[in-house]
Amino acid sequence: MAKVLIIGAVGQIGSELTVALRKKHGADNVVASTRKTEFPPEIRDGGPCEYFDVQDKEAVLSVMKKYGIEQVYQLASLLSATGEKNPDLAFSINLLGLKNTLDAARECGVDRFFWPSSIAAFGPTTPRENTPQRTVLEPTTMYGLTKVAGELLCQYYFRKYGLDVRSVRYPGLISWKAEPGGGTTDYAVAIYYEAILHGKYRCFVKPDTVLPMMYMPDAIRGTMQLMDAPAEKLTVRTSYNLAAMSFSAKELAEEVARHIPGFSCTYEPDFRQQIADSWPRSIDDSQARMDWGWRHEYDLAKMSKDMIANLKVKLGKE
Ligand code: SER
Repeated sequence: MAKVLIIGAVGQIGSELTVALRKKHGADNVVASTRKTEFPPEIRDGGPCEYFDVQDKEAVLSVMKKYGIEQVYQLASLLSATGEKNPDLAFSINLLGLKNTLDAARECGVDRFFWPSSIAAFGPTTPRENTPQRTVLEPTTMYGLTKVAGELLCQYYFRKYGLDVRSVRYPGLISWKAEPGGGTTDYAVAIYYEAILHGKYRCFVKPDTVLPMMYMPDAIRGTMQLMDAPAEKLTVRTSYNLAAMSFSAKELAEEVARHIPGFSCTYEPDFRQQIADSWPRSIDDSQARMDWGWRHEYDLAKMSKDMIANLKVKLGKE
């Protein structure tokens, strides 16, 4: 059991991670925090909650001190597409917010710190197939830039100050509980909602667009597994490559159509196509598998079955 702070607790990852960590550490030990959105009842009624902005270092520090925080999950971030619409805010929340949190964690003697990186750390000059752990990092988005700089900052705080920072480069994350907000990989979530609600979907990337993806239960389990791993096992202090599956938008649409007869998908690429084209098609995550035993459980077929069953209930379309 540890005293845990989750910053960005109502986001796509945070809302599920908060529930999982409250089960593990005890509800009273896990503080959920957000900047502006209302807490969903499940999180608001499930344990302590705080409102603060990660750009305000004093606020971050005072909440850590108030609860005697031992572990931090710093998830507050603007995603890739939103970040392109507001690069200044993305820089401030994603990177200065991370630095504020790292500094506060140092000052409070936090034991373990988690921060998510992404496939967006890679760019058009990175090898796109089976992208290695250590490779070219020249992203073209502000979001990707903050991920590369953030990874290096995490490693710096580990080496210089001994702060036990751990990180993974998530692929596109697919979940039915909370929707993502403003990511390039969001089509892989929206397609399920639209298929169930309207029987059709207009996809914003081309049918042959292939990106690495992961179902949220794998992402949550992997994150907790990394945070439980003995420090001496970890050989990467920037961020671990993490993978589960890769598929094209067309393969995804075909899989959805197996469950929703008559479903049709059309393709109208927008500015997000260029972002998608700059990211890897598949990821080599052998280092994570070797160092701390990462294994994924969900492929496209298993995920789609679970996703559609749960979404049908959620959307009242059983
Ligand atoms: N899913 C994220 C995005 O599309 C990538 O980290 O922005």
